[in-house]
Amino acid sequence: ADIDEFRQEVRKFYAAEGRSFPWRRNTSPYSVFVSEVMLQQTQVCRVEPKYLRWMREVPDFPSLAGLSTEGLLGLWQGLGYNRRALALRESALKVIKEHDGILPDDPERLRGFPGIGPATAASICAFAFNCPVVFIETNIRRVFIHFFFPEREAPVSDRDILPLVEASLHRESPRDWYNALMDLGTLLKSRIPNPNRRSRHYTRQARFEGSNREARGAILKA
Ligand code: ADE
Repeated sequence: ADIDEFRQEVRKFYAAEGRSFPWRRNTSPYSVFVSEVMLQQTQVCRVEPKYLRWMREVPDFPSLAGLSTEGLLGLWQGLGYNRRALALRESALKVIKEHDGILPDDPERLRGFPGIGPATAASICAFAFNCPVVFIETNIRRVFIHFFFPEREAPVSDRDILPLVEASLHRESPRDWYNALMDLGTLLKSRIPNPNRRSRHYTRQARFEGSNREARGAILKA
């Protein structure tokens, strides 16, 4: 596939099948920060209800910084890896103490926050600040391998993928572009059935897959 063709396919897919999530409707830095940490190791369908309750009860950095450990872990229950919740609260304290309550908008600084690795730092910049950052995570990786290395048997390294991410990046709307890549990556995952995994996630994705034949045809053809 060439870059222009790829961009067209992704945009066509997103127009037909892009998903709507509460953290896409609320793109405040706080909302994006919380949701990206929740989404690090937890599936979207599990995150969604937890995120909504969290935002009602802990709407901003100061209220997060002031949460008791009991309250924090109570709200985090079901998301797994409690360490992430503790890091989230530490991050809120850091935002308040070191950044006047305002989340920094560059990936380098965000990487200095507890629990934030390079991919999460970049995704926060893309989704909260609409920055044209170049990054790879599992869903994005899957999309690029599918389009650009369909026959490759050996693992494809991020060094091979990064230049393609950079070349195809939609610089006017990185936020939408990365949302599209994540949705497409999720869809492609659902096409590789894993017999050992019969979770809610799987059925949801199977439904997602069946939802638009035309867009699917476009992807399969690529
Ligand atoms: N996984 C990580 N971040 C995501 C997002 N913003 N939307 C959907 N899936 C994601």
